[in-house]
Amino acid sequence: MKAIDMLIECAQQRQPVVGGEVWLVGAGPGDAELLTIKALRVISQADVLVFDRLVSPAVMALVPQQALRIDVGKSTRCHTLSQSEINSLLVELAQAGNRVVRLKGGDPFIFGRGGEEMAALQRCGIPCHIVPGITAASGCAAATGIPLTHRDHAQSVRFVTGHCRDGEPDLDWRALVSDGQTLVFYMGLAFGGTIAKQLMRHGMGGETPLVIIERGTQPQQRVLTATLAELPALLARERPQPPSLLVIGAVAGLYRTGHWPAQNVMPAMAV
Ligand SMILES: C[S@@+](CC[C@H](N)C(=O)[O-])C[C@H]1O[C@@H](n2cnc3c(N)ncnc32)[C@H](O)[C@@H]1O
Repeated sequence: MKAIDMLIECAQQRQPVVGGEVWLVGAGPGDAELLTIKALRVISQADVLVFDRLVSPAVMALVPQQALRIDVGKSTRCHTLSQSEINSLLVELAQAGNRVVRLKGGDPFIFGRGGEEMAALQRCGIPCHIVPGITAASGCAAATGIPLTHRDHAQSVRFVTGHCRDGEPDLDWRALVSDGQTLVFYMGLAFGGTIAKQLMRHGMGGETPLVIIERGTQPQQRVLTATLAELPALLARERPQPPSLLVIGAVAGLYRTGHWPAQNVMPAMAV
């Protein structure tokens, strides 16, 4: 029996709700306190929770014990289940009458294939609800003290993928090079050298500041700074690991070490 069939059979043995449904829920960048109240409520009511590597241990700790957890374990190089198998799994779990929560890092619709999962569910007539999450760019940059826009430095911000369907990014580099614009590359580590080379070839100054935010908002957060020209050497020396973001532009120059602890936690309030 295939692993996917075993998972479905296992879920079918649980107490079904009348009419299954799927909630596509954004888990934010990692700090569990950055979950929305709605996400927390939906997670607490799940029969089955389908998650992947981007969901942090702190968020997973909030999943109720009785919920069945299915790890579909996607990383850049290792997909435990293919996207079409994940789509089928969600459909079959819902058809079995479960309240399914598909928990995704960040926001489900920002480089998260949430749109593909929603379309697969809609094709099968399965109710699909979306709970937005804080996407890594805004969550990690703000928590690190980097404003993605700033009246003096950046009037626009672009979220860009550094990894296309076939690997190396094939982007409109000319359009990405513009004064007063912040670039945030998701999945940009593997082709960081290409990104730096192409941006400079199309006119971006080698002295442009950048930061890499590794595991943003999580206890292991690391922030690395360099200029665009220095990026290949920085990657070779520090070897940052996914998940990491690349923030390029004048606002990256506003980052100051020491000002921002990895976890900004307010003291508990007496109620
Ligand atoms: C497949 S994309 C998913 C993005 C997600 N849906 C979101 O809205 O943040 C995965 C990429 O998001 C970025 N990412 C997600 N969480 C991150 C974190 N805590 N710190 C740094 N980068 C993160 C990394 O670039 C990672 O390779």
